[in-house]
Amino acid sequence: MTVLRARTLSFTSKPDGEDHAGVDYREDTILIIENGVIQKKCTPKQYAAEGGKLENVTRLFGLLVPGFVDCHIHYPQMDIIGSHGTQLLDWLDRYAFPAEQAYHSKAYAQLRAQAFVDLLCRYGTTTALTFTTIHPHATDALFEAVAAVNARWIAGKVLMDRNAPAALCDTDSGDQANRALIERWHGQDRLSYALTPRFAITCSDAQLAAAGALAQEVDGLYVQSHISEHPDEVQETMKLFPDRAHYTDVYEHFGLLGERSIFAHGIHLSEPELARFEATGSKIAFCPTSNLFLGSGLLDLERLDAHGVGYGAASDVGGGTSFSMLTTLAEGYKVCQMNGHNWHPLTALYTATRGGAQTLSCADRIGSIEAGMEADFVLLNPPEDSWLAGRLEKTNTLTEEVFACIMLGGENAVARTWIAGEEVYNRDAT
Ligand code: GUN
Ligand code: ZN
Repeated sequence: MTVLRARTLSFTSKPDGEDHAGVDYREDTILIIENGVIQKKCTPKQYAAEGGKLENVTRLFGLLVPGFVDCHIHYPQMDIIGSHGTQLLDWLDRYAFPAEQAYHSKAYAQLRAQAFVDLLCRYGTTTALTFTTIHPHATDALFEAVAAVNARWIAGKVLMDRNAPAALCDTDSGDQANRALIERWHGQDRLSYALTPRFAITCSDAQLAAAGALAQEVDGLYVQSHISEHPDEVQETMKLFPDRAHYTDVYEHFGLLGERSIFAHGIHLSEPELARFEATGSKIAFCPTSNLFLGSGLLDLERLDAHGVGYGAASDVGGGTSFSMLTTLAEGYKVCQMNGHNWHPLTALYTATRGGAQTLSCADRIGSIEAGMEADFVLLNPPEDSWLAGRLEKTNTLTEEVFACIMLGGENAVARTWIAGEEVYNRDAT
């Protein structure tokens, strides 16, 4: 059993601006954790009254928040983050595809998967919907690394069988490989499998159809892909699928939309497409650092809200330029500013915690700090000599504190990270 005492911030629902509805903020609370789950959340007074010994409790300084949820990231692209030049389709050819080819080596994939999980722990990300490569062993390597820290994780082998280098193309639909990976990993511990057609341009009709059929066949499978990121990509897609009404219709035609389907970007979706997202419960991963870096466009969150389309925050490394979900929110804030919308800091933090969990259909397990939830946390507490620590001294409200952490905290706000109640990162121990 672990007992922590901390100042906590979590959300019971999407917060609505300054009235703080949906915000669960506690100045001083006790968390009793057993078997990876929060058994009890109570005041120190209550804890002591029930016989608990406050002197034996681990006291945390800073702000304890739920572990961050990254709704879209490519682990093999950690090798090419920040590569200069060009927009989406050319960037894929020049950087992403060559980087992914290196993962034909199982030993390399294992090394990088471990480095990836270590990095995400350092940045406070405790759950991520992750693209691997087409190589099944690269997916095994990632699941092995996340299983070792008992993280709730969703990942899948990339499906591609055209318009990509031959070494990165499946020679069949990928169905056999998917089935073997599902057998090994789906539903094991805290792991789930995601069918991962890269995007319509690199997948034949047969491959999309096989993925759609499998999505309907196996309970609890996720689907992850890309949609409507860049105007050139949209145009190319419609050339390849002239019979489909629009880009979303391509995926819907093959049975790939649904509650557990998460599509990265969605910047250029039309009104009829958003209506299909709403009707099917399909979700969007908002990838602001990537969208700015690749010049793809500005996603309009208010438009998604108006349509009742769910979304979470996502780094999209390596199109994205930071592993930090705080930095992702900072860039997301700027995207909203450019759209004439002021994103409330608490709403932003919600989007990277409970909102992300909701997007990944696991808000009943993760994304908030309350009894019954899995014990994934991040302690925000910058080093004393950091710029952020000085800036935080000048804040007067919770909103100001959270906003400073978002805008300035990417590289140094996270002091400690816990997954399933176990500490997986401690800045002072490294
Ligand atoms: N569209 C298809 N593949 C990718 C990818 O790897 N990164 C991004 N940002 N968009 C994509
Ligand atoms: Zn992506």
